[in-house]
Amino acid sequence: MVRAEQVVIAQLTDTHISVGDHGLGQAYWDENTRRLRSAVRSLNAETEPPAVVIGTGDLVECGSTAAYEILTEITSQLNMPFWPLPGNHDSRVNIRKSFPEMPWEENHASWSQEVPDTDIQVIALDTTQAGRQGGFVDAERLEWVADQIDQATWARKPCVVATHHPPFLTGIDWMDAMGFEGFDELRAVFIEHPPTQIISGHFHRNITAQVGTTVASVGIATTMHINLDLSNAAVPSIINDPIGYQLLSIPNDEEPQVITHTRFIDRASVARPIQVQI
Ligand SMILES: [Fe+2]
Ligand SMILES: [Fe+2]
Repeated sequence: MVRAEQVVIAQLTDTHISVGDHGLGQAYWDENTRRLRSAVRSLNAETEPPAVVIGTGDLVECGSTAAYEILTEITSQLNMPFWPLPGNHDSRVNIRKSFPEMPWEENHASWSQEVPDTDIQVIALDTTQAGRQGGFVDAERLEWVADQIDQATWARKPCVVATHHPPFLTGIDWMDAMGFEGFDELRAVFIEHPPTQIISGHFHRNITAQVGTTVASVGIATTMHINLDLSNAAVPSIINDPIGYQLLSIPNDEEPQVITHTRFIDRASVARPIQVQI
């Protein structure tokens, strides 16, 4: 396939839209809505427009239909397709209903599709299970993702795997402690079947690691970030770090690679403690 010199895809994550109070006050959630609107305006203003925007989960706070109505009202204003996958705060039922055009798998809310007019495959792996904050993959999902990566690799296509929960430990212990069932098995799949890049959410901040030979990254959220505290004594806290999204540039090279940039669209303040359920 002949394609442009580079293709840019965007990663928007952890927008946490809500209409409820959830103990933080309605103003907190109104701010998340405002931030998503400003991210959409910024994405539409990119001089090298992203071909698609991938939403790597926790798109709403509590899975409600009303929250997805706000989400879809705002993301429908994007000049390019918005391809969502669920995080632990999403509802797999309502995300499917809200984005019926996505080629959802039947038994898990994963999908795999080609970026229009390119040979780039995006493979979104659902790492959620109802009632669980941490990650989850079973044998069926492991087999599915390995097969999807193999198909792209055999066709020499760049392939980006998107997950909500990252397949690496971050060192932010209270978040890592949420756990990930099937973690070792998923890493083994990525080591044996390396995709071009792995992008994730859940931690709300830029983090980069390596899984086998593949670069794996977490993108910054548009909502408040998990506080950066790497001490073993770190207490759960969030911080108003600068928000934005990722731009992944994929050059039309012989050897597929992804170059990741961060677009900042807002400013910072101080950390605040929060209550979490693990
Ligand atoms: Fe989140
Ligand atoms: Fe999450």
